[in-house]
Amino acid sequence: MTNDVQSDVLVVHGDTPLRGEVRVRGAKNLVSKAMVAALLGDGPSRLHDVPRIRDVEIVRGLLELHGVRVSDGVEPSELVLDPTNVERANVDEINVHAGSSRIPILFCGPLLHRIGHAFIPDLGGCHIGDRPIDFHLQALREFGAQVDKTPQGLDITAPNGLHGTKFDLPFPSVGATEQVLLTAVLAQGVTELQNAAVEPEIIDLVCVLQKMGAIIRVHTDRVIEIEGVSRLTGYAHRPIPDRIEAASWGAAALATGGDVFVRGAHQADMMTFLNVFRSIGGKLDIEDGPDGGIRFWHPGDELRAVALETDVHPGFMTDWQQPMVVALTQAQGLSIVHETVYERRLGYTEALNQMGATIQTYRECLGGTPCRFGRRNFRHSAVIAGPSKLHAADLVIPDLRAGFSHLIAALAAEGTSTVYGVNLINRGYEDFEAKLAALGAHAEPPRP
Ligand code: UD1
Repeated sequence: MTNDVQSDVLVVHGDTPLRGEVRVRGAKNLVSKAMVAALLGDGPSRLHDVPRIRDVEIVRGLLELHGVRVSDGVEPSELVLDPTNVERANVDEINVHAGSSRIPILFCGPLLHRIGHAFIPDLGGCHIGDRPIDFHLQALREFGAQVDKTPQGLDITAPNGLHGTKFDLPFPSVGATEQVLLTAVLAQGVTELQNAAVEPEIIDLVCVLQKMGAIIRVHTDRVIEIEGVSRLTGYAHRPIPDRIEAASWGAAALATGGDVFVRGAHQADMMTFLNVFRSIGGKLDIEDGPDGGIRFWHPGDELRAVALETDVHPGFMTDWQQPMVVALTQAQGLSIVHETVYERRLGYTEALNQMGATIQTYRECLGGTPCRFGRRNFRHSAVIAGPSKLHAADLVIPDLRAGFSHLIAALAAEGTSTVYGVNLINRGYEDFEAKLAALGAHAEPPRP
């Protein structure tokens, strides 16, 4: 077994309540977009509190390929991004750097403005996965971009420049809203986006762009109006904290019967999660201030079943769903989960069932939120009967969020589990293994 393969496997000793403190840094879902926004400036940008995660490395690599100079700032976790010499990148190199990330899609608007050309790698293949980008392409075309299919991917140009437009998103997609923002800020004229996503990370991206000189009005009812300007400067920005990582540790505390203080967790961005956490019977304590955070703990009483539906903001975030379901396997009664954002986000429950959970998935919508997936053969609702005594298993991590949940389940279970594919978790969780160790988890690479 090579070292690489070994580092991708963890032997996890169960029955371990997580106890202690972890810190969350800038939100992954903002940091990567703010890094792309730096392309739009005519001078360097400074981004603080950047987590050391794989997704940041991917964006950094892609920016460097396009001539952006990226260096570490004076503060630890600070990045300086200098876009003075933006240039076209080699198609093969974009392919290699992008990996499985969807981030190249968001380079389109900024690159069209800066060098008149953008390229999205290998659309049919696994690089972008089966998550569609039709809204992105539709939006770019509305701005006047021309999208040409080539054997390697999509070649995008703007022969007549980019012009403001009126666009109504079929669904409030986070990525497509960011696409419109990053393109409209330097487009000629006014853009009105209807049915926009308004996640806290989107509002934080609006803050970044405003610092650069953009004029963006966020109206009520998901309408965002952008007045194009002719130039933008660099920015200095401290991102909102990662509310997905914060919630993951909170759910982990509940699932393992532990007590975790998440330094950096921010109440306002997590209100919906905190309500559900409390309804289940979890305890929390909120500390305000620049160095504050949220303490999440299991009070020792029986946890209660709940019905919950994932939704766009301000609903219960889809990325909170998987860790919360692990906690719900420990609640008394029948919990119901209706996933309305992604059609295939419940596959990981099979692994939990192997470990002793009782989770049944359904094609029907088990909830009142209108959803695009009903009667379309997608198992997107789940009923969880608890509490279940979980036992150890050999687990293969399928993706980032499900991966964290597998690990929490292994920590909550009786016995020793082997978890394969843990490197996937590093895409979104900084110092994941060190944080686990700091919380008293016993998880180590297998002995050679
Ligand atoms: C972002 C987040 C992800 C989060 C998701 C929803 C990042 C890096 N990732 O992903 O963690 O789970 O928002 O909050 O910020 N869709 C289309 N066509 C498109 C685009 C999207 O049909 O062109 C669909 C998707 O398949 C999905 C839904 O819209 O069903 C929401 O996707 P979207 O909000 O775009 O997610 P991402 O921006 O990829």
